[in-house]
Amino acid sequence: MSLVELGNQIKPVILSGVASSGKLTLGNLAGALKNWVKLQDQYNCYYMVADLHAITVRQVPAELRQSTIDVLAMFIAVGIDIEKSTLFVQSHVPEHAELTWVLNSITGMGECSRMTQFKDKSAKGTESSNVSLFDYPVLMAADILLYQANLVPVGDDQKQHLELTRNLATRFNSTYSPTFVIPEPYIPEVGARIMSLQEPTKKMSKSDDNQNSTIFLTDKDEDIKRKIRRAVTDSGTDVTFSKDKPGISNLITLYSIAKNKTIKEVVAEFNGLTYGDFKPAVADAVADYIAPIRDKFEEIKKDKKHLNEIMKIGAEKARQTARKTLRKVYKKVGFLELEG
Ligand code: TRP
Repeated sequence: MSLVELGNQIKPVILSGVASSGKLTLGNLAGALKNWVKLQDQYNCYYMVADLHAITVRQVPAELRQSTIDVLAMFIAVGIDIEKSTLFVQSHVPEHAELTWVLNSITGMGECSRMTQFKDKSAKGTESSNVSLFDYPVLMAADILLYQANLVPVGDDQKQHLELTRNLATRFNSTYSPTFVIPEPYIPEVGARIMSLQEPTKKMSKSDDNQNSTIFLTDKDEDIKRKIRRAVTDSGTDVTFSKDKPGISNLITLYSIAKNKTIKEVVAEFNGLTYGDFKPAVADAVADYIAPIRDKFEEIKKDKKHLNEIMKIGAEKARQTARKTLRKVYKKVGFLELEG
C-alpha cells in the first residue's frame, strides 16, 4: 500500500487529470473538479493537466500551450490548493512517457483495440487515428501507477481505461514481482452529469462541434445566458425531472448546482410555472455561479511568474514519487543501472 504519512494521518493516494485539449466546461466542474476540491483534505491528491494525452488528436502548438496553462489556472480558480495537493503538468514529468513504454510491452494489441473510446475516436476519420490514440489508455495507466494511486475519480467514459490499468498492474506484479498498487475507481457520493444543451442525451463536452451545446467556465455572462435560453427543451411545459424529459431535466440539474439546491427543491420551487419562466431563471443562476470563477481565473492568469512557479513546484513534487516507481520498474524489467 502506498500510504503517505502526514503528521499522524495516513492518507490514501488519489490521482486524476483532464486532457488539455480545450477549455474546461461546466460539465468538468460539476462532474469532476468540485469533487476534486472536496477530496483534498482526506486524501493525498495528485491532479494533472494531461498535455501528453492532448496530442493524441492533432493540436495547434500555440493553442495547446494556451490550453495547458488555462486548464492549470482553472484548477486553481475552482479551488485546487497547492498547499494540499500536487498540481502538475504531465509533460513536465518525463516518467509518464517512460513508464508508458514499459507498460506497452505487456499490453496486448487486442486490449487497446477493444477500448470504446479508441473505436469511437478512430472511427471519426483517418487523420485523427494514429498510434498515440491507440496507446492513450496505456499512458493513462502509467499516470495512475506511477503515483501508486489507491483511488481514481473517473467518469463513466474512462472506467474501461481504469479496468485496463488494473489488469496491467496485476500483470506486471505477477510477471515480475509486486510493484504497483491496484487502483480502484472512486465513485463520488454525488456527481452531477451535465448534458449537452443542444442534444441533452449526450454528455456536455469541451470538444463538441456545436459551441452552443457547451458552457465553458470562461464564457461571459451574456454567452452563458444566451446558450441556456436557446437550450433544447422537451415537449410539454411543466418543470419536471424525468428520464423522458432530458432537456428540462438537464436545466433543473444546472439550476440545482448553481443554487446549491436539491433537484426536489428546484422542482418544488418551479411547481406550476412553465419553461418560459424557468429558462431565464436558470440562465441568471448559472451566469452568477460562473462569474466569480471566471474572475478568479482571469486574475490568476495575469501572474505568469506565479503560474510558472506553481508548475515548477508541482513537477518537482510529482517527480519525486514518479522517479521512485520508475526506478523500481526499470530494475525489474532488466535495464542496467549506471553505477558511480
Ligand atoms: N483521459 C482522461 C480524460 O480525458 C484524462 C486523464 C489522463 C486521466 N490521465 C488520467 C484521468 C489518469 C484519470 C487518471 O478525462
